[in-house]
Amino acid sequence: MKETYITTNSQALTESDSPVLEIWGPTSLKGEVRISGAKNSALAIMAGTLLCSDDCRISNVPSLMDVGRMVQILAALGVKINRKQDTLEINATEIGQTQAPYDLVSQLRASFFVIGPLLARLGVARVPLPGGCAIGARPVDLHVRGLQAMGAEVTIEHGIVHAYVKGSSRRLKGASIYLDYPSVGATETIMMAATLAEGETTIGNAAQEPEVEDLANFCRSMGAKIRGAGTNTIIVSGVERLHSTDYPIIPDRIEAGTFLVAGAITHSPISLYPVIPEHLSPVIAKLKEVGCNVILEDYKRLRLVPGELRATDIETLPYPGFPTDMQAQFMALLTKSEGNSMVTETVFENRLRHVAELQRMGADIKVKGNVAVVKGVPFLSGAPVMATDLRASAALVLAGLAARGKTVVQGLHHLDRGYENIEDKLRQLGANLQRV
Ligand code: EPZ
Repeated sequence: MKETYITTNSQALTESDSPVLEIWGPTSLKGEVRISGAKNSALAIMAGTLLCSDDCRISNVPSLMDVGRMVQILAALGVKINRKQDTLEINATEIGQTQAPYDLVSQLRASFFVIGPLLARLGVARVPLPGGCAIGARPVDLHVRGLQAMGAEVTIEHGIVHAYVKGSSRRLKGASIYLDYPSVGATETIMMAATLAEGETTIGNAAQEPEVEDLANFCRSMGAKIRGAGTNTIIVSGVERLHSTDYPIIPDRIEAGTFLVAGAITHSPISLYPVIPEHLSPVIAKLKEVGCNVILEDYKRLRLVPGELRATDIETLPYPGFPTDMQAQFMALLTKSEGNSMVTETVFENRLRHVAELQRMGADIKVKGNVAVVKGVPFLSGAPVMATDLRASAALVLAGLAARGKTVVQGLHHLDRGYENIEDKLRQLGANLQRV
C-alpha cells in the first residue's frame, strides 16, 4: 500500500512537486490484465464491519488510497485492523469512538457510510458532513431521511451529523422507505442500519448496483436477513446481532471497463481476468455499438476484439443503465470515433471537467449544460493535462495511450484513489509510460 501518499492533509503536496505520469503514444497493447477487487464494494463493506462485534476477514481488497483512508477512519473509531496482502482482518468488538474524525472524513466521501452501522450498533453516531467534491454537491439528505424514518433523531450542527436513537433499547425500528432517487450510498446506509433494527425495513426505488448486492451478500454472510438486493426493492428483517465472516469482494467492473476502453482506443486485442461479465453489460453494449466486439472466453474472462471506431450516444443512468463512472473514459474513446456522438451526464451535475483537458489534446467537443457533443478527429496529440477527478484521470491516461507524442498527466492523487498499480498493469500490456 502506497503509504507515502497518505498525509494528514493530502493537499499538502502542491501540483508542482507532485509526481506526473508521462505517456508516449500511440501505443498498441497485448496480453491479459488482472482486475482487482472493487473499490466501491470494499469501502462500503469495510464500513459494514462496524455492524459486527466479531472477527471479519475480507479478501480481494484493492491497495488504493481510498482504502487506506477508510482503514484510518475505522482505526480512529477504535477498530482493530490488520492487512495481509489483499486481505483485511477487522475486529470491531471495541468501538471506542462514535465520532469519525473530520480531517479523515473530509478526504473520503465514502466514510459517511459509517453512520448507518454505528447508529444501528450503538444507537448514536456523529459523522462530519462529507461536503461536495469535484463532480457535484453530493448531499446526504436521502441517507438522513432514511435513518429518521427508522426512528433516529438527526441534527446537523457545526458540519457534524449527530444521530441518536431515543428509548432504552436504543434500537432503530424497521420502516418502509421510498427513495426519491436510487442513490447507491443512501441504499447502502439504510440497508446496513436495518440489519440490526427491530422489525422489517423495505427500501423502495433502491439502487441496484452490483456493489449494493455485494454489500448485501457480505451482511448476509454475517447472518443478516436481506432479500431483493440488486433489484429496486430491498427487504431487511432486523436481527439481534451479527457473527464473524470471511468474505471475498467482487472484481471492479469500472476498472475492467476502463481496460476494455484501453483496448478499444488503441485498437488492441486484450483480455481481462477476473470479471463478472453481466456487471459490464451496459459497457459491453456500447463497445459493440462503436464497432468493437467483446468475447466471453470463460465465465470470468473477457477478450476485447478491436474495430473501426464509429460514433454513438451515451446517457449515464443508475445501474443497469450506462455507469457515470465510465462516462469520461468513453468520451475519450469517442473523440477518436468516426462521426458525432452525444454524451449526456445525468447522475452528477459537474462531471464534464475532463472535456477541457481532452480539447488540449486536439479533441473536438462542444458542451451545453450536461450534454457534450463529441466530433471524432483522426488523431489526438500528446499534451500536458490536469486530472480533475478519479475517472477524468483515467480518461486522460487512455487518451495519452492513443495520442501522438508525449502526454504528461498531473493530479495523480486522483488516479491513485481508485486504480491499483495501473501503470504496472499497462506496462505489462506493452504501454510506454512512467511516473516521474
Ligand atoms: C457511489 O457514490 C460511488 N461511490 C460513485 O463512484 C458512483 O459514481 C455513484 O455511486 C453512482 O454510481 C462509492 O460507492 C464510494 P449516489 P454515491 O448516492 O453513493 C444524489 C467513483 O468514481 N444524492 O448514487 O455518492 C447525488 O448528489 C465514484 O468511484 C442526493 O441528492 O452516489 C448524485 O447526484 C464517484 N442525495 C446522485 O444522487 C443523497 O442523499 C447519485 O449519488 C444521496 C445522493
